[in-house]
Amino acid sequence: MRIFLTGGSGYFGSNLIPRLLEAGHKPVCLIRKGSESKIEKYLNDIEIISGGISDLSSWKDQLKDIDAVMNLIGIIREFPSRGITFKRLHYETTKILADLAMEIGVKRFIQMSALGASPDSKSGYHRTKYMAEQYLQKTELDWTILRPSFIIGKGNDFVETVTNLMDSAPLFPIIGNGEYRMQPVDIDNVTAGFVQALTNDKTIGKIYEIGGPDRFSYKQMIDLIAQARGKKARKVHMPIFLMKSIAGAFEYFKSFPLTKSQINMLLEENFTDSREYFEDFDIKPIIFDESIRKALSQ
Ligand SMILES: NC(=O)c1ccc[n+]([C@@H]2O[C@H](COP(=O)([O-])OP(=O)(O)OC[C@H]3O[C@@H](n4cnc5c(N)ncnc54)[C@H](OP(=O)(O)O)[C@@H]3O)[C@@H](O)[C@H]2O)c1
Repeated sequence: MRIFLTGGSGYFGSNLIPRLLEAGHKPVCLIRKGSESKIEKYLNDIEIISGGISDLSSWKDQLKDIDAVMNLIGIIREFPSRGITFKRLHYETTKILADLAMEIGVKRFIQMSALGASPDSKSGYHRTKYMAEQYLQKTELDWTILRPSFIIGKGNDFVETVTNLMDSAPLFPIIGNGEYRMQPVDIDNVTAGFVQALTNDKTIGKIYEIGGPDRFSYKQMIDLIAQARGKKARKVHMPIFLMKSIAGAFEYFKSFPLTKSQINMLLEENFTDSREYFEDFDIKPIIFDESIRKALSQ
């Protein structure tokens, strides 16, 4: 199948492209100028359409014989002065792509959402993911929405930040009591679902929540990451209000590792029962120990 893939140059997308290729699909990737290098090794095997969502009219005629749209575009940090907002990148972008799919007669649409997508979330990230889902559901497209939890894999920014901090700072800061629970999921468990959804019609019109088989607190996860590296994390607890004010002050600095929205998401504790996902897709859940070992391997 020819898949129009957006967000293919990101962490998840660059792990998904080889899986799509292995399954015999042809990714036709919308890539912004300058981002091609992020997927350099696949350039001979994929088609590139150069552009961004806002210049749709300049590239949409290049879309030929597309069988499905897969939308991965998303952000974790807003820059409102540059028009980079959750609403723009999650909701409006999905609306543009869904309308485009209908215009060019493509029925199948696979949407990357996120666990915790809800109109009541404290984070704009999750509220706008929900708005995007709502829009899709009201269309006549054959949609499938996947809502993964935090995705663990090689090249994950969070794992890199944690390991860098462990190596460079004497103490590891934990936001609040660190007891809020998480359910990270292995990247291979998620890419497998995206690939299979293309050919598994049972998944049409369904929303799948995807969490890994292990649930633990944030504090425990930090210990498990340290353990996997043969180290011990010397943790220090930081008051939530302090971390939120620091994150707020550095919100618009790309190099600062945490945003207020991310803190809200952590504290909201997203976990789920993913049995339906693993059964419908016939995927074997990968335990966290194995995921983190893979993510840390050279
Ligand atoms: N990582 C996780 O744990 C996780 C968990 C649940 C859901 N998700 C969702 O999965 C998707 C991919 O996440 P990721 O971790 O792979 O993020 P990522 O590495 O930041 O990738 C984001 C992708 O979106 C593209 N993008 C960002 N801003 C754009 C814009 N203004 N116009 C066009 N494209 C733009 C990026 O393109 P450039 O390369 O050009 O910047 C990149 O291809 C997101 O929708 C995210 O919400 C991720």
